[in-house]
Amino acid sequence: MGAHMYYAATGMAAARDDFLRRFPAYATTTAIDELRAAEYARLDRLGHTYLDYTGGGLYAESQIRRHHDLLRERVLGNPHSQNPTSVASAELAKEARDAVRRFFNAPEDEFEIVFTANASGALKLVGEAYPFAPGGVFLLSYDNHNSVNGIREFAGNKGAATTYIPVREKDLRLDEGQVRTALRGAGGAAAKLFAYPAQSNFSGAQHPLEWVAEARELGWDVILDCAAYAPTNRLDAAAIGADFIPVSFYKLFGYPTGSGCLIARREALAKLRRPWFAGGTITLASVQQQDWYHLTPGATGFEDGTIDYLGLPAVTIGIEHVESVGISVIHERVRALAGWLLEELQRLRHSDGSPLVRVFGPRDLERRGATIALYLIDPKGRPYDVYDVETAAARKRISVRGGCFCNPGDGEVAHHISRDDMERCFTDPSAAITLMQCQHTIEDRTGKVPNTIRVSLGFVSDFADVYRFMSFAESYRDRPSA
Ligand SMILES: Cc1ncc(COP(=O)(O)O)c(C=O)c1O
Repeated sequence: MGAHMYYAATGMAAARDDFLRRFPAYATTTAIDELRAAEYARLDRLGHTYLDYTGGGLYAESQIRRHHDLLRERVLGNPHSQNPTSVASAELAKEARDAVRRFFNAPEDEFEIVFTANASGALKLVGEAYPFAPGGVFLLSYDNHNSVNGIREFAGNKGAATTYIPVREKDLRLDEGQVRTALRGAGGAAAKLFAYPAQSNFSGAQHPLEWVAEARELGWDVILDCAAYAPTNRLDAAAIGADFIPVSFYKLFGYPTGSGCLIARREALAKLRRPWFAGGTITLASVQQQDWYHLTPGATGFEDGTIDYLGLPAVTIGIEHVESVGISVIHERVRALAGWLLEELQRLRHSDGSPLVRVFGPRDLERRGATIALYLIDPKGRPYDVYDVETAAARKRISVRGGCFCNPGDGEVAHHISRDDMERCFTDPSAAITLMQCQHTIEDRTGKVPNTIRVSLGFVSDFADVYRFMSFAESYRDRPSA
C-alpha cells in the first residue's frame, strides 16, 4: 500500500504501532500521557489538536490551582518595603529567581536573572543599553526573531554597523565557515554584539552552541536567543556561557503570559548603560541636580517599576511543574513525534507520485527541534493558499500557524524573496499597508508565496495530535489549487 493511502485506510491504532516500532523512545514518556489525561483534559474534551507550542505552551490545571490557592491564602503587598506583606512578596520573588537559576543552571556568582515581561522585553533591555559606538558591530543571523532584528535600530542610532550572516536555502542553517569569517573579520576596539537563536522559531534548526565560546574568545558579547529552544531542550546557562539569554515563560509552561527573563552574565550586564532610570531601579535620585541618581547594581537596576509580584509565584510553580516531568522526557517525546512527522510528511504523495508537502529547513532529526515549517503543495508543485489551509485546519480544531512567524530572514530565503521583490512593500505605501497586502503584492508580481505553515510540538503533544495532522494533510491529496 502506498504511503498516501495509509491514514484513510489504516487508522490510528495501526499507525501508532508502526510509530512505536520506529521511534521506541516514545514509550519511555508515557508519564506525559497520564499527565495530559489528568491535567490537560480540556484539550481532548474540547477536541483540540494543538500544534502551536512555539507560539505558546499550555498550562496544567494544577498550575492554576496552586497559584490561585496561594493568592487566596496569602496577603501580599508591593515588595519595595519592610512591612510584612512586602517582605512576603519579596520572598516569593526570590523563590522565583532561585527556581529560574536552578532550572537553567545559572549560578548566582556568575549570572543575574532579570525579570521582564517576555523575551522581547529582555532583548530590548540589552539592545537599548548595549554600548554600541562608531566602529562597533551588531552581527546577527538571517534566522532571527524580529525582536532580535529590532536591535539594529539601537546599533544604527549609536553609529555601529549591522551585519547579517545569511542562512543557506537548502536547510536554513548558517554556513559555519561564513560565521567564523564574520566573527574574525569584524571590529576593532569598539563593543561588538553577536546574536543568534539556539533554535529557529521558523525552521526548528538548532545552531551550534559552541559558537558562543568561540565568539566570546574573539571579544564578542553574545545574545543566544533561547525563546524557542528552552521549552523542549535542556538549557544549561553555565555550560553554554552566553552573555545574554532571553526567555519567555509562557512558552515553557503556558502560564503566566506576562513574564519572561533575561539570564545575563554579571560582567556582561555591568557593561550595559541604561538610557533612563525608573522607580525600583535606583537606590537614590535627586531633583536638584539632574545627573544625581544611583542605579541599583545587578538585576534590580534593570527591573523598571514594580515587578509582577503576584505573577512571579506562578513562575516558580510552572518551573516545578516542568521539573516534575523532566525536560529530558519532554525532549525525547517531541523528538520522536517530530521524527515521525518529518518522515511521513515527506512520504505523502499525490496519485501521480508528486509530493504533497515541502518542508523548509532541516528535513530530518539531526540538530533540529520539533518545529516544522512547510507548504502543502498541489501536483504541479504550487502551494495551496496558506491562509486557506490554516482556515481548513481550524475547522477541524487543529491549531497550526500560518505567516512568517516574525522571522523574515528565514522566510525570505525559504521562498526566494529578493530585495527587489520586497522593495514595493517599503516604498509604495498604497501597495503594502498591512502584512497581508504586502504578501499579496509580492505574490501578484512574482508568483512567489511569502508565507508558510508551521507545526510545532511541545510538552503534552501526543501521537494522536500528529496523526490527526497527517490525516488533515492527506485530505489535500489530488486536490486542485484554487
Ligand atoms: C526565537 C524567538 N525569539 C523571541 C521571541 C519573542 O518572544 P515574546 O513574543 O514572548 O517576547 C519569540 C517568540 O515567538 C521567539 O520564538
